[in-house]
Order: sequence, then structure tokens, then C-alpha cells
Amino acid sequence: MPQGFHDDLFTGLATTRSIRRYHDESIPPADLSAILWAASRAPSGSNRQPFRFLVLTDGPRAVDAKALLGASFRAGWMHKRAQDGFDSGSGTRAESPKARQARAMQEYVDGFEKIPVVVLVCLERYRAENPYEGASVYPACQNLLLAARALGYGGVLTMWHLSVEHDLRRLLSIPDHVALSACITLGRPIGSHGPVRRRPLDDLVFDDAWNRRAEWIDEDAARARVRSSEG
Ligand SMILES: Cc1cc2nc3c(=O)[nH]c(=O)nc-3n(C[C@H](O)[C@H](O)[C@H](O)COP(=O)(O)O)c2cc1C
Repeated sequence: MPQGFHDDLFTGLATTRSIRRYHDESIPPADLSAILWAASRAPSGSNRQPFRFLVLTDGPRAVDAKALLGASFRAGWMHKRAQDGFDSGSGTRAESPKARQARAMQEYVDGFEKIPVVVLVCLERYRAENPYEGASVYPACQNLLLAARALGYGGVLTMWHLSVEHDLRRLLSIPDHVALSACITLGRPIGSHGPVRRRPLDDLVFDDAWNRRAEWIDEDAARARVRSSEG
């Protein structure tokens, strides 16, 4: 391995997949602090660090916010379930991957209020809204998820907070110049972390010009490096 190679880092990013099933136990403040510290190490344009993390655990407003979010998540999933045809085709066979995914999603949204930690990741704007501003907040989201993974927690970045954004702003006193960029749920996972599944690199990487195959890509060798560090 090259000098300075961090196999744990590589393994962590290869196995940080969305976790939607959690034990009820809370996340101790020391762990939560470490996760948020890691999130705040993320890069941002000109190092302005516009990311803010509004953490909802079990305070009185958090309970109300989780109730609002729970309803919104259930509506969001219901819409997606219909839109993406989760109950047709292979979805009608109880043991198909599609049906299992639908059950997992349903369980996730039905139990939303019991999720130990919900983080509203916000962007405090310092200039007019623009299409690239998310680039200064989403790296922090991924850092947060990776740090959670490192400490044995799991989570998922979601957007199903948007339909109750107005009410959340009022309840949590979020000013108008602050965008609600993501809603991340976190907890101790039920089940394992497993590898993420992604399209082959050949579909995703081009060399020298758009759509030009990168002949030097060796996906098997790349994967094997991660595997050997998992071993
Ligand atoms: C921008 C973005 C929006 C997402 N929105 C949702 C969401 O609203 N609800 C949800 O359950 N998952 C959401 N996800 C999680 C994705 O569904 C998940 O990352 C993707 O299916 C890949 O699965 P994996 O993370 O387990 O590898 C979102 C992820 C991203 C990056």
C-alpha cells in the first residue's frame, strides 16, 4: 500500500450506505459531538462554512418537529410508492427486492417519531440564492454520514422535510435567509452496513472527452483494494 494509505477511510466510504432502521437508543452527546465536528470539517466555497446543523433529539420543540416531519415523510413515501410503481410488477411478489424495499421504507416512515436523532442541515446564505450553493453544504452532509459510520451509527440524507418547511421554520425559529438543505436521520443500525451498490465505473468515468471510455480503469483491481482492507 502507498505510504499514508488509510484503509479504514476507504472501507468506510465503500460501506456507508443509507440506514433507515434504528434501535431506539439515543446517541450519547460525546458521539453526536464527534459526528458534528467531523461534519464541520467539510470544505466550502472560500471556507465560509455556511453549513448549520439543527439537531432534533427529545426536546419539546424536537418532539413537535419530529411529528411534523413524520407526517411529511409518510406523505413523501406514499407519493414515491405510487409514482415509482412499488406495488406493481415484481413489487406484488412479497419476497422480491422491490417489495422488501417498500416494506423497509414503510417501516422507516411509520416509525419516524422514534428515530433518535434528526439533523436539519441548513445553509446560512450570505449572498443571493444560486444553483451552486448546495456545493458548500452537501460535503458536510457526507462527512456527517461517514463519521456516523465510523462510530457505528447509520443514517440517511433525505429531502422529505420540504413539504413542512414553512411550519418547521415557524416552530424552530429558522430565519428566512437560511435554507433547509437536507434532513438527515441517525441512529444505531438494526442490521449491517454492507457495501454500497453503484453503476460500473465505465458508465461514469470518461477520459479526455465526453463518452470516451477510460481504458486505464480497472474496476476489479480498485474494488479488490477495498476488499483487502476489509479483510
Ligand atoms: C440528494 C438526495 C436526496 C435523497 N432523498 C431521500 C429521501 O427523501 N428519502 C429517502 O429515504 N432517501 C433519500 N435519499 C437516499 C437515497 O435514496 C440513497 O442514497 C440511494 O438510494 C443510494 O442508496 P445507498 O445510500 O443505500 O447506497 C437521498 C439521497 C440524496 C443524495
